[in-house]
Amino acid sequence: MPAELTEFQGAATIEKVAALCRRRAFVFPSSDIYGGLGSSYDYGHYGVLLKDNVKAEWRRALIQEREDVVALDSAIILHPEVWVASGHVGGFSDPLVDCRTCKLRFRDDHLQQSACGRKPSKHPGETHDCDLTEAREFNLMFETYVGPVREDAARAYLRPETAQGIFINFKNVTSSMRVKPPFGIAQIGKSFRNEITPGNFLFRTREFEQMEMEFFVPPAEAHQWYEYWIEERFRWYVNLGIRESHLRIRPHDADELSHYSSGTSDIEYLFPIGWSELEGIANRGDFDLTQHALHSGTKLEWIGHDERYVPHVVEPAAGADRAALAFMVDAYDEDEIGGESRTVLRLHPRLAPVKAAVLPLIGKDTALVEKAHGLYRELRRLVPAEYDDAASIGKRYRRQDEIGTPWALTIDHQTLQDGTITIRDRDTLAQERIPLDGAVALVRRRLDEPWRPRG
Ligand code: GAP
Repeated sequence: MPAELTEFQGAATIEKVAALCRRRAFVFPSSDIYGGLGSSYDYGHYGVLLKDNVKAEWRRALIQEREDVVALDSAIILHPEVWVASGHVGGFSDPLVDCRTCKLRFRDDHLQQSACGRKPSKHPGETHDCDLTEAREFNLMFETYVGPVREDAARAYLRPETAQGIFINFKNVTSSMRVKPPFGIAQIGKSFRNEITPGNFLFRTREFEQMEMEFFVPPAEAHQWYEYWIEERFRWYVNLGIRESHLRIRPHDADELSHYSSGTSDIEYLFPIGWSELEGIANRGDFDLTQHALHSGTKLEWIGHDERYVPHVVEPAAGADRAALAFMVDAYDEDEIGGESRTVLRLHPRLAPVKAAVLPLIGKDTALVEKAHGLYRELRRLVPAEYDDAASIGKRYRRQDEIGTPWALTIDHQTLQDGTITIRDRDTLAQERIPLDGAVALVRRRLDEPWRPRG
């Protein structure tokens, strides 16, 4: 087995990817014209398409291509008792210390990674005038009030994870769908955490999207399914183009495990900031269904012909934004073409926001433009496509490379003579002549071909 990498291999840094995202309308800093709101981001056109593709691939792998997982989209604001039962009201907190001198707040367990507010070369507590308070627990849930009165009885929370919406629908789903353990309920949606140390662009934000699936199994099968889902989820990232050498599985030590978990493994990605969690797979036992049964007074169990039990739960929990960031970081590359540098996103074609660009070689040539428009109209009915006739052909290729478009279809004078066009490959730069008539079918076929493995 090759030795595990310790450093990210490639041209990407978080800063370069964030700059590309802004320049090319993937992701903008949020509330920009008001000076920004820390660690909050808005997705632009290509970012929306990319993140939608990440979520679509997750749904394809977890729901569409399986027979044992069904979909759900639960509310963001749930009954407040849900979060008491789940343990979030009592325990979803970080230990914080305040510095009375610089008025900054730090995580007590991250002091060695934090910088003192007045002397950034030192850690909080290291200079003689640092005046830190005792650590206090700070709950990470965002609070709000339902209805017009701001009173304790009306207090509710923005969900800090999508998982609990699934557990509280266990009875609805089992009584309305033809499911039987082992089966899963999957949902994608926004979650909110008042993170103390957000940062590294999309990696940790206060508002983010999760892709979670709760897989309900007979208790004796829990461990086997836990191992199955670790492998499945690892392969998902590899099949969508992430270099295997940049991925690893890290089982949690006993002292890291959450209160509900009898086993958790993280799929980690070697970001330019080091190995960090991309997704967690947890063996949650019967904790959640038992807790909600206790707090709601509703029995949450599986009743078969000759059996009755509380299923155990295996949970693969991923982040859509964090995954999109990892896909972009891994795809980001810089190379040279004919002495000119280029930036290229070597995204898996199924993730690429635009699949093909249609480019008339000369933007002012009416005959070429007409042919190109015809192809563009046909293409965009079937795949996300773009038409561009501005600037030199080289510049137009560069622009498509930066947004990760796998194929460029160029209409030139030969097209008018023999009905062929060129198809240029973003990665190999190879240009082939193909019949204009078969171009749409070719792009569709290539999208279905397996992605070549990388490094
Ligand atoms: N239900 C289990 C759960 O929520 P988690 O490890 O806290 O587990 C799952 O979250 C995934 O959600 C993480 O692996 C990460 O991809 C994503 N995630 C969590 N907090 C995040 C944040 N503040 N910003 C962006 N993504 C986050």
